[in-house]
Amino acid sequence: MLPVAADGQKVARVTETLVRALGRGHVLIDPDVVASYTADWTGRWQGQAALVARPGSTAEVVSVVQACRAAGMALVPQGGNTGLVGGSVPAGRAEGGDGNTPPVIVSLVRLRRLDPVDRAAAQVTAGAGVTLSALQHHVAASGYGLTFGVDLAARDSATVGGMVATNAGGIHFIRYGGMRQQVAGLELVLADGQVVERLQGLAKDNTGYDLLGLITGSEGTLAIVTAARLRLVPSQPFRVTALIGLSDTAAAVELMAALRREVAGLEAAELFYQEGLDLVCQYGGLVSPLAGPRGAYLLVECAGGDDGVTDQLAQCLAAAGLEDDTAVATEAAGRQGLWAFRERHTEAVNSVGVPHKLDISLPLGALAAFVPAVHDAVAAVSSEAKVVLWGHAGDGNIHVNVMGPAPDDNAVDDAVLQLVAAMQGSISAEHGIGRAKIRWLHLTRSPADIGAMRAIKDALDPSGVFNPGVMLPPI
Ligand code: FAD
Ligand code: MLT
Ligand code: ZN
Repeated sequence: MLPVAADGQKVARVTETLVRALGRGHVLIDPDVVASYTADWTGRWQGQAALVARPGSTAEVVSVVQACRAAGMALVPQGGNTGLVGGSVPAGRAEGGDGNTPPVIVSLVRLRRLDPVDRAAAQVTAGAGVTLSALQHHVAASGYGLTFGVDLAARDSATVGGMVATNAGGIHFIRYGGMRQQVAGLELVLADGQVVERLQGLAKDNTGYDLLGLITGSEGTLAIVTAARLRLVPSQPFRVTALIGLSDTAAAVELMAALRREVAGLEAAELFYQEGLDLVCQYGGLVSPLAGPRGAYLLVECAGGDDGVTDQLAQCLAAAGLEDDTAVATEAAGRQGLWAFRERHTEAVNSVGVPHKLDISLPLGALAAFVPAVHDAVAAVSSEAKVVLWGHAGDGNIHVNVMGPAPDDNAVDDAVLQLVAAMQGSISAEHGIGRAKIRWLHLTRSPADIGAMRAIKDALDPSGVFNPGVMLPPI
């Protein structure tokens, strides 16, 4: 690392270097423009950045990493900035790098490479900045009857790089798994500026450590992802969506078990409650097709080669005596209408204020007991808190959203995460640790686990330039 120059001089020098490498239009220094990159989607996390660099190629990413490293400045990789744990924006104060200068945000959205779909391998290579919806359209347009296995409501902004970095889960996890299951290769820029190119997409390759698995879910702390080789799955021509009203969470868990057993093409099993549905209806001007109130709702989607999936679902619901408590759709518009009740929860909650977002998972057998227990745990520490729960119930993944307490009041976070740990769950199911959950990492990771994570970080990023203050507690 070069000797540290005075702050302003250093930023000016890096800016000059980056303008030469990227072009003036892709080095953003106007404070108003930079400000649009320094706040997260929820409004909970915001910080300072020296500038925003928007590289347009892997070689340009290397230039950014080398310039920042030489100047002792930290880097915050950013994709669509839809992350929900504060990992995509800098901290409020300068940390990492030389510890004084605010970091550089590296926006990867210009890396929009989209190679032709490889029909034989059922794979595609996509740049880190390709949005999920652009990827979905590209794969569908190939006409090969393939699709991408991960889907989530932020599809129009979330990028391939960000989804790899967070190991995103989403609504089809129950059938296809998360990002780690889809990654067949990656192109990476390491902290010393070296490029690792592993985009062959080999089905079998046991050559050494599983670097791809490690980088997936590393939240921008170990490497910058510049491209990914992604597995594709057969697209299913027939699709049926059902919104089912249930008495309580236990009934939802029981129905899920029956669906898993009896419906071959179960693609989604999403849980929500009356409070969330009411908020979504109020926010979106929607009307629920089911008369309420209900103790729980499941939004189920099944897909297959023919409409046999519709019959399977109908039989399963009839056996459970739920035909009259179900709204069903098979056409695209009707299905989207039902999905809106589930997918609009995030924006509806955000419209009320800045929520405490606690994305957790539990053993499925503990779900029914968790729901009343979490309401009690929050009420015990905050009388003003409103709790809204929803999630990917098929994966035991509940999004606990708490509104009311000030964003930096950690009492509710603490109460919920302690409860989750006591019930043998995970404090982060699919969103990551980011800045939001560092202080609770020890609840579900032992000192040995955290030590191993620290050793990996130190080995791959010894100067701590990539995303300081994210995932690991400060030393
Ligand atoms: P960002 O928010 O920009 O970044 C997220 C993290 O990845 C940061 O730590 C950042 O530093 C790092 N990063 C970004 N790009 C790179 C890169 N190229 N190389 C290295 N590191 C990088 N998540 C789910 O898992 N499941 C859901 O169902 C889901 N639904 C959502 C619905 C809504 C409405 C919203 C707003 C968010 C949702 N999310 C969900 C969260 C979010 O969309 C995902 O975490 C997504 O993967 C983030 O992608 P992004 O491109 O926006 O990444
Ligand atoms: C979801 O499943 O709705 C997302 O992960 C986003 C959220 O938790 O708000
Ligand atoms: Zn989710």
